[in-house]
Amino acid sequence: MKVITNVSDMHQEVRNLKAQTVGFVPTMGYLHDGHRVLIKHAKEENNIVVVSVFVNPLQFNQSSDLENYPRDFERDRQILERDGVDYVFYPEGNKMYPNPLTINMSIVKRTDVLCGQSRPGHFEGVVMVLSKLFNIVKPNQVYFGIKDAQQVAVVDALIQDLNFDIQLKPVPTKREKDGLAMSSRNVNLEDHERQEASEIYQSLKSVQIFIESSSTWTRQEVIDYVRNYLVKRISGEIDYVDCLSFPELTADISKDDDVIIAVAVYYKRARLIDNIILDCN
Ligand code: PAJ
Repeated sequence: MKVITNVSDMHQEVRNLKAQTVGFVPTMGYLHDGHRVLIKHAKEENNIVVVSVFVNPLQFNQSSDLENYPRDFERDRQILERDGVDYVFYPEGNKMYPNPLTINMSIVKRTDVLCGQSRPGHFEGVVMVLSKLFNIVKPNQVYFGIKDAQQVAVVDALIQDLNFDIQLKPVPTKREKDGLAMSSRNVNLEDHERQEASEIYQSLKSVQIFIESSSTWTRQEVIDYVRNYLVKRISGEIDYVDCLSFPELTADISKDDDVIIAVAVYYKRARLIDNIILDCN
């Protein structure tokens, strides 16, 4: 008999009993090349790849948003088949929430900034569905896009706080040729909006050069730099520009922290987000 006294050793023991590794990519479907990049990484690093397609009602603040969310499972199924995915978990009807929930998860850090501020309850809905999906799929590694960096920060905390025996694999943002981050929302941009939207990424690349060339930059300077860059070049309305430690997402950034610079912009029928994460050490 073995006596095991720490969590990572216990996890490793159980792992050794399972020969195959399972990579898991949770999605809400309507797949594009940004999703497919996660699948590519998962395939390269695991024996088995599972993708979930589930539009999670719990993470939508407005019921109209939920109803309007694009869905086309047959198209998704064909893409996943072509990409060599082993299993698609597509829970229909009320399979994920058959009964009213008794447990409510609340998040006390990392969500009082960026998108968490304008979408109350959103990340609580995300951690609830992911906890359920992690328990259902039992993956070894989970793949999330850095495009949704706050989601990565929250999943990082979820895995640590609840001792999920899962490795988080953040994947760099897949971009269009002009730098615009791929998103299902991009099709809702008008022509002139689509043209100028590449400036969002350019503002981040430009502030990166500013940071790298200055040894004394401040958080406020970085925010002002990006704001000034954008107001001169885009017609969309800036929702936020922020500069925070990553993954803690706090305004007080210490010397050893990674730093995220994140932007959200409202256009008529789409809200776009983007970010870069810098290792400033
Ligand atoms: P969804 O918006 O479908 O995104 C699924 C995954 O694809 C997320 O990890 C997201 O960050 C990633 N992704 C989207 N666009 C990307 C891009 N251009 N480059 C790289 N990755 C990209 O995020 C969700 O679904 C949900 O909140 C979910 C995690 C499934 C929970 O319901």
